Amino acid sequence: MTLIDTHCHLNDEKFFDDLDEVVSRAKNVGVTQIINFGDTLENSAQVVKLAEKFSNMFAGVGIHPEEISNFDENNSVEKIVELAKNKKVVAIGEIGLDYYWEKDSAVRLAQQKTFIQQLDIARQLNLPVCIHERDAHGDALKILQCEAKGLRGVLHCFSGSLEMAREVWKLGWLIGIDGPITFKNSAKLPEIVKSAPREMILLETDAPYLAPMPNRGKRNEPSYLLDIAKKVAELRGETLEEVAAYTTDNAKRLYQLD
Ligand code: NI
Repeated sequence: MTLIDTHCHLNDEKFFDDLDEVVSRAKNVGVTQIINFGDTLENSAQVVKLAEKFSNMFAGVGIHPEEISNFDENNSVEKIVELAKNKKVVAIGEIGLDYYWEKDSAVRLAQQKTFIQQLDIARQLNLPVCIHERDAHGDALKILQCEAKGLRGVLHCFSGSLEMAREVWKLGWLIGIDGPITFKNSAKLPEIVKSAPREMILLETDAPYLAPMPNRGKRNEPSYLLDIAKKVAELRGETLEEVAAYTTDNAKRLYQLD
């Protein structure tokens, strides 16, 4: 049985001391491949470096909506394109909208603009997209419907409604399932996971954030992906092996991993 952790931040300083052990613990439970995502230019360069160092790691590059204050139209786009040309880069991300932390409407508009500019990079380089979206469901969906035509990707750490998930699936985009599915208060998520067509979900930890039960509140790491996979299997009435097989296929298909 193999699993792919499709969204991590192992460049985070929380892994400075024991990254090799973290990676081998992941391998021991079957998490054979890991995709790290940048959220600034600096972090994007770091995840590319990690991907060059570890044969089982890949990278996504892009600027997160909470980090757009330094985004400069020409310079930043050029730098992302440059990073994305590395052959271990399999996606543009994480990019998107975050209205949970950002209440200012002018900055929200700037987020939309930067999001769309980075979607254009994905189109130009023919790469899939990993989207961060929080409390911006309506605008995110509108941008997916109007500005992301021909693109493919995933709404990572999905937090929308079942109705929104259905709209996302209709567009051919996947949703990412993280630690919160294991929380008692996971609200709408179990229903969404039960309703998801097999080819439309990815598993991810978002480590070091959002550790699943029984490690909730601690530093998250890719080996805990197993706890997320087990919960998904339980909810859907499938075996762990089945869930591992189709979510791994989905990740390989979307990110063109071999
Ligand atoms: Ni993330």
